[in-house]
Amino acid sequence: MNTKINAAITAVGGYVPEAVLDNAALEKMVDTSDAWILSRTGIKERRILEEGKATSDMAALAIQNLLESSGVKPEEIEVLILATSTPDHNLAPAAPLAAQKAGLVNAWGFDLNAACSGFLYALSVAASFIESGRHKKVLLVGADKMSAIVNYEDRNTCVLFGDGAGVVLLEPSTGDAAVMDTVYKSDGNGAQFLSVPAGGSAEGTNNHTIEGKRHYVSQDGRTVFKNAINGMTSTSNELLKRNNLTTDDINWVVPHQANLRIIDAVGENLGVQKEKVKVNIQRYGNTTAATLPLCLWDFQADFKPGDKILLTAFGAGFTWGSTYIVWGDLRNN
Ligand code: ACO
Repeated sequence: MNTKINAAITAVGGYVPEAVLDNAALEKMVDTSDAWILSRTGIKERRILEEGKATSDMAALAIQNLLESSGVKPEEIEVLILATSTPDHNLAPAAPLAAQKAGLVNAWGFDLNAACSGFLYALSVAASFIESGRHKKVLLVGADKMSAIVNYEDRNTCVLFGDGAGVVLLEPSTGDAAVMDTVYKSDGNGAQFLSVPAGGSAEGTNNHTIEGKRHYVSQDGRTVFKNAINGMTSTSNELLKRNNLTTDDINWVVPHQANLRIIDAVGENLGVQKEKVKVNIQRYGNTTAATLPLCLWDFQADFKPGDKILLTAFGAGFTWGSTYIVWGDLRNN
């Protein structure tokens, strides 16, 4: 007899650096104001990782936080997936480094890059490892050191981003908890509107790329803004319809934290009550692949077993999508 195995999130963890970069500090760095940043993005402050530390360091600290709070031993972890756009190195994935730093002696690991949608996409991959019966304990980290690729002379981008890491543990479900369904999309036409132009195989490193500051995030904010709202709205609607759900059935919406105006617009388009939409962008800014797991970590006390949660994200690529999960009992509780 074949019994379907569902994947449940059974523990959450997180890490944000201590150093705070608030809007007042940014006013001294570029031509901007606290009032502009707050009204246009909703961000008050973001965290910045210290020099000499990398994405794998934040990932390892988030993992340690999860292991300590859940009582799971590092040697029990079988797989580590690290969703990131800012690995420690272009060549050599960050996941094995994070696994080594966190003492995951029995885990194999790899990076998954889908920009701000990285955690969302990887949730489906991690869940598949559990659902197939191939693995029983999979860690999924979303971590980004955006301060490494942000130009702090460019007011269009430097006010938006911060550093951080969040992590979830996936295990076979013992109750109703599950990663129920996903709608994911991607469109390579979007790369021209949001990317780090140089440093990859399309455009390596030379005097021209360095002088032109082409190793930093470059973004057409207005185009990304519109596509983000449309993309997250349409995949969420498709997902809800396919699962015979309305927003009344959904207990919580956990959206990617890029801009409070984007979050509000998606919430309004979906017709969801504001109290159901989780927001922590004011404290962390856009931490790219880390925003969703940092929200799950921050708001874990609000989520009850059986709650229906809609996750949605949009990022460079373009990449975007929505995932419907049912929350379960956490080992942390
Ligand atoms: N301070 C003051 N003025 C500023 C700042 C700033 N920090 N940044 C831009 N401005 C100015 C612009 O120069 C412009 O001035 P102008 O009219 O004289 O040209 C004016 O403000 C308006 O600029 P817009 O770009 O139209 O501002 P907008 O309201 O669109 O907000 C923002 C810009 C915040 C970037 C917004 O477009 C946005 O959030 N875009 C989407 C970001 C996003 O979702 N990214 C995806 C995920 S990221 C990832 O995948 C890594």
